Amino acid sequence: MNQEAVHLLAISGSLRGASSNSKLLHAIGALLPDNVSCEIYAGIGELPHFNPDLDNDDPPDSVRAFRQTVKTADGVLLCTPEYANGVPGVLKNALDWLVSSGEFVYKPTAVVTASPNPRGGNHANESLVLTLTMMTADIVEGGAVTLPFVVSAKFGENGEITDPDMISRLSPLLQSLADAMDRKKQAITE
Ligand SMILES: Cc1cc2nc3c(=O)[nH]c(=O)nc-3n(C[C@H](O)[C@H](O)[C@H](O)COP(=O)(O)O)c2cc1C
Repeated sequence: MNQEAVHLLAISGSLRGASSNSKLLHAIGALLPDNVSCEIYAGIGELPHFNPDLDNDDPPDSVRAFRQTVKTADGVLLCTPEYANGVPGVLKNALDWLVSSGEFVYKPTAVVTASPNPRGGNHANESLVLTLTMMTADIVEGGAVTLPFVVSAKFGENGEITDPDMISRLSPLLQSLADAMDRKKQAITE
């Protein structure tokens, strides 16, 4: 079967400069199938606080740009830390801007939570899945993964993932996401 060229949007839930979650997103390019291009969206920290009064067809410019970027992506990968047993406010805020405008509807989506903690951010992972399910995202098979014990030692000098366990947890998720994006694109173009 011919694989369609598909475009993945990756969003980190951490604004921290040395974020492990952002590092993971920079490293996954090497694990993605050849037909998948990947763009990292670094603008969620620029979005205003969600306000239903501004949630309309003429939203703030940063919100309009964010909505358009998510809309044109074939799939989305969220990679986030857990803060105080929950989803970081900056990421939840970004998702709240997409509830009524519907960019996540049937969008192939996967969720990774990475943490130095042994639970791997399981509360944030579960919470994100609940939120995305409410938004009718298509969370792909095996598309919610917690990564425990994620520390900078698990990345090489060039930012590559060196930990075999991390690679073996991430690879099936990325393949499943790529397959779902490909199936959806084929269905649209048929
Ligand atoms: C305010 C705050 C709350 C945190 N709460 C949790 C938590 O509930 N569970 C957890 O696993 N880690 C928690 N952590 C630790 C983060 O997982 C850790 O700092 C991680 O490296 C952040 O991700 P990043 O490297 O992508 O920025 C917390 C960190 C901060 C700063």
